[in-house]
Amino acid sequence: MTTNLTRLSMAVVALASVVLAAGVAVAGPLDHPGYVKSATCSACHGFAGASRSDTMPVLAGMDAAYIKKALQDYASGKRVSPEMEPFAKQALQLGVDDVAGYFASQKKAPTPVTADPAAVARGRTAAATCAGCHGADGKGDPSKQIPDLRGQPPGYLRNQMMLFKADRRSPGDANLKAIKTLMKTVPDQTFADLAAYYSSQR
Ligand code: HEC
Ligand code: HEC
Repeated sequence: MTTNLTRLSMAVVALASVVLAAGVAVAGPLDHPGYVKSATCSACHGFAGASRSDTMPVLAGMDAAYIKKALQDYASGKRVSPEMEPFAKQALQLGVDDVAGYFASQKKAPTPVTADPAAVARGRTAAATCAGCHGADGKGDPSKQIPDLRGQPPGYLRNQMMLFKADRRSPGDANLKAIKTLMKTVPDQTFADLAAYYSSQR
């Protein structure tokens, strides 16, 4: 009897350590309280926010306060996106801090989309006018909610610049007036160069 019990408890201990080891092996994205709440986002933004697409922004490693603001802007319709609006509303309902915290805590995964070196070189020169806010390499400034542009897919970056220029990103937002005025001075073909430059930065 005692021996059987001892054997049983040893088996339980052995099993527990196997489960524990397995748990340690998969430790990472699944551990965060925001993981379950972010499940639907991966359809477009990639697993754990590591977008592999040229049009969908990388969320992994993005500043939490910036993500939260973006979700609030989409949900209220201030930043117009028919694709994002329902998911932003869902994130707000489930807990926007958990969702934002989840993506912010993931390791940044730069886009796999490569840029033409000549475009990168032209973009580096053109980026001088943006450095005052975004920094020379595009690192941004979380304290001012200026986003990090490094490693984002070039297609996404270029599209957002076009939206600013046409006043279609958060139309009428007084805080974005200076950015939009500046974008209007940038020729359309330069946006591809700027996007190539920032996208290639790490
Ligand atoms: C159907 C596809 C789709 C799904 C699902 C989706 N997104 Fe998006 N997301 C987009 C698109 C497209 C954009 C760019 C929209 C624009 O032009 O502003 C975007 C932009 C964003 C941005 C802005 C990033 C930036 O750099 O400003 C954030 C933050 C974001 N999504 C978070 C989420 C979260 C969190 C979820 C899940 C709750 C989610 N998304 C689900 C398609 C999607
Ligand atoms: C006055 C400061 C300022 C200047 C100058 C500025 N930006 Fe920005 N930029 C911002 C802020 C703030 C945001 C975020 C806006 C928001 O919250 O919707 C932003 C957003 C962006 C985005 C969208 C990023 C994303 O993840 O969605 C791109 C792309 C961008 N800027 C590129 C540029 C380029 C290129 C220039 C130079 C031609 C430039 N910016 C000049 C402050 C600035």
